[in-house]
Amino acid sequence: MGECPRAAITGCGMYFPERVLSNADLEKMVETSDEWITTRTGIRERRLAAPGQAASDLAVPASRQALAEAGIAPTDLGAIILATMTPDMLFPSSACFLQGALGATPCAAFDLLAACSGYVYALSMAQALIVSGQARHVLVVASEVLTKFTDYEDRTSCILFGDGAGATVVSAAAPGAPGEVLYTTLGADGANSGSMTLPGGGSRYPAGPESLEQRLHYIKLRGREVFQLAVRKIVEVVNDCVAACGITMADVSLLVPHQMNLRIIQASSERLGIPMDRVFVNIDRYGNTGAATVPIALHEAHTNGRLKRGDLVVLVTFGAGLSWSGAVLRW
Ligand SMILES: CC(C)(COP(=O)(O)OP(=O)(O)OC[C@H]1O[C@@H](n2cnc3c(N)ncnc32)[C@H](O)[C@@H]1OP(=O)(O)O)[C@@H](O)C(=O)NCCC(=O)NCCS
Repeated sequence: MGECPRAAITGCGMYFPERVLSNADLEKMVETSDEWITTRTGIRERRLAAPGQAASDLAVPASRQALAEAGIAPTDLGAIILATMTPDMLFPSSACFLQGALGATPCAAFDLLAACSGYVYALSMAQALIVSGQARHVLVVASEVLTKFTDYEDRTSCILFGDGAGATVVSAAAPGAPGEVLYTTLGADGANSGSMTLPGGGSRYPAGPESLEQRLHYIKLRGREVFQLAVRKIVEVVNDCVAACGITMADVSLLVPHQMNLRIIQASSERLGIPMDRVFVNIDRYGNTGAATVPIALHEAHTNGRLKRGDLVVLVTFGAGLSWSGAVLRW
């Protein structure tokens, strides 16, 4: 028997809805200011999906771009994993809608819900499918339409969220191939599940007049609590990634953190000793797009020349669940 194949990212893509929601627009909707939002979060604008535009609609163009770069057809896929917490419907999975739109039948297709940590969770599942020989090519997508679940009467949370999608193709590859996934680590803390929730519309609080009246169909966030937990966990996960790969912080060419708040990113960078010029930031333009921030950042870093062949890239996420994940790639 030959050596197990490794998994490598062979294509990237992203997609955003056209409409921009600026801080000035939010000033007209809630009691806030551009100055407060910029200094407290680093966000200047975010994108807003059109009425009727669902998570799978954003995932389709992002996926086509990733498939084109990987040079494979949708029918070459062995699986589609779509990380989202804002699916088109409770069922069927948005991955199935995506598969139908791409013409990728009959590969496996499923959604993965690990909130903002979902993309790296999905990457890790794709790696497992590839290394175990169950798939040669897996489409790993994250797509969110968080603005559809944002309470525009809650000024603390409504400034944070935006819509967007990022996609990657993960393929079987030889050791040392470009984009190789060297390591992934996943974790969760269900004892702290109350810090970020979207309570309504599920089986706990089914949709109805009561859930509507109590605004349970909107994201509930204990922001200050999440802030502190996030910095601590991001530092822990990056330390884990570096130790597991036998590298140092100085070897990390680019840290790609989940884009939840610029101050969280800066505090993590300082504690890790990875200067901000080696940390990817695009939160100013897109806000927090949930699971999609990391693949969108990867796509941008790849296409704007920020990533070179051989660079060591560390991905790190933190989100509802609570959940977290990390990965090391050799570009
Ligand atoms: C939400 C978040 C930006 C709030 O920033 P913060 O510095 O923690 O702010 P606080 O909640 O402590 O509020 C500080 C003050 O600003 C006020 N404030 C809150 N939102 C405001 C807004 N949009 N505009 C103006 N003032 C605002 C608060 O009412 C509070 O006023 P007070 O001091 O008079 O009570 C920040 O906590 C955060 O980014 N948290 C993590 C984000 C997150 O959980 N993301 C989702 C998961 S990935």
